[in-house]
Amino acid sequence: MKSIVVLISGGGTNLQAVIDEIHNTDEPGQISAVISNKADAYGLQRAQQADIATHVFTFQKGGSREAFDREIMNQIDEYKPDLVVLAGYMRILSPEFVNHYMGRMINIHPSLLPEFKGLHTHQRALDAKVPYHGASVHFVTPELDDGPVIIQGKVPVEASDTAESLQKKVHVQEHVIYPTAIKWFCHDRLCMLDGKAYLDNKELDSAGNPIST
Ligand code: GAR
Repeated sequence: MKSIVVLISGGGTNLQAVIDEIHNTDEPGQISAVISNKADAYGLQRAQQADIATHVFTFQKGGSREAFDREIMNQIDEYKPDLVVLAGYMRILSPEFVNHYMGRMINIHPSLLPEFKGLHTHQRALDAKVPYHGASVHFVTPELDDGPVIIQGKVPVEASDTAESLQKKVHVQEHVIYPTAIKWFCHDRLCMLDGKAYLDNKELDSAGNPIST
């Protein structure tokens, strides 16, 4: 059974998908704890409703990022996690934090990486008039939103779309691809080696598809 620690900052709809698809099923993964950097994150209530331990760490203005991240690392490590899942955790991580969990920390980002790293991805996708938008699950490496992609979910962008409607469509994809990636990890099918993602021992390309050899 894999121990999973989930980090959130907000509503936690992705956390809910992981609770429903993995934690509350006979998949070989259990969420040991949910950690938030926001005391009012609704995701904390979702965790409590599922009887999952919760912790809140609030960053104090003027404090050090390194010290804050170290506090969270100490808490995470009490649960001896096999996997750390960033589910809408809206803080930039210190290099020490990223290095500590390298190969066992994944993130979901609301764009088809490498497009639209950073914030406001839905509006930026509209402004760029791309035909497709979506979400990517990737291993976390020191460069922001840059680690090897594991799986992507794609949605067509329609002329009538707004940032809100796109966000809704992307969320539907997120709730499918994040549990999928986590299940692969729990079944020992997914790993990161030398900065590359592998599924069933096959290297994945930049869109998360197996490279045929
Ligand atoms: C998700 O759309 C996720 O892709 C995004 O935050 C949202 C969290 O929603 N993450 C990022 O932007 C990370 N840079 P949720 O709290 O309902 O799961």
